[in-house]
Amino acid sequence: MSGLAPRPSIITQHSSLITFCAGLLFFFIPQTPIPAPQPDVHPDVHFAATPQAVADAMLALAHVTPADVVYDLGSGDGRIVILAAQKYGARGVGVEIVHELVERSRLIAREGEVADRVTFVEGNAFDVDISKATVVTLWMTASFNARIEPKLRRELKPGTRIVAHQFPIGDWPPEQTRTVDGEEIFLWTVPPR
Ligand SMILES: C[S@@+](CC[C@H](N)C(=O)[O-])C[C@H]1O[C@@H](n2cnc3c(N)ncnc32)[C@H](O)[C@@H]1O
Repeated sequence: MSGLAPRPSIITQHSSLITFCAGLLFFFIPQTPIPAPQPDVHPDVHFAATPQAVADAMLALAHVTPADVVYDLGSGDGRIVILAAQKYGARGVGVEIVHELVERSRLIAREGEVADRVTFVEGNAFDVDISKATVVTLWMTASFNARIEPKLRRELKPGTRIVAHQFPIGDWPPEQTRTVDGEEIFLWTVPPR
């Protein structure tokens, strides 16, 4: 053994160089922008997507036709109103509080060639005028549905159909109930005033 300090092996030298270059790259390459958090946005329920077969059954239960305007309150990735336009020829409006989901819905609508028939409104379902709807769809929570019931009864025209996935609306008895792939859906019609 000589008294000299051991020289770094060729592998150690290379890995130091690689780490140095990677550091430089990280520093100089522009990073993917992280979406800014939305202040004061508090979804009543987090996003989950209604399975496509259940979404289709909801639209079929409401007998959606090209004459309809389908509003989905809390529209997530937009799938219900996009399907309403693509398969049933309806017009659709999605109301969604999360900006990123609104952007995603608009992109999917463009790719699905129905951007001329569907609109996505970024906002709170409680604040949006829903009086033009002829069909309303919901997949929220039992407490959300109970809280939005007065708005549904006040703003929707008599004869407007409401279809909810999984949860009832307060004590309002549904006219029809179906089970699709193990998931319950309910239908109501807004009564004459
Ligand atoms: C369970 S997901 C349902 C998505 C879609 N309707 C479906 O069935 O596939 C509920 C959606 O409602 C949105 N949301 C929650 N509270 C809301 C509110 N007060 N106004 C508008 N959207 C809301 C959430 O961001 C989420 O995307």
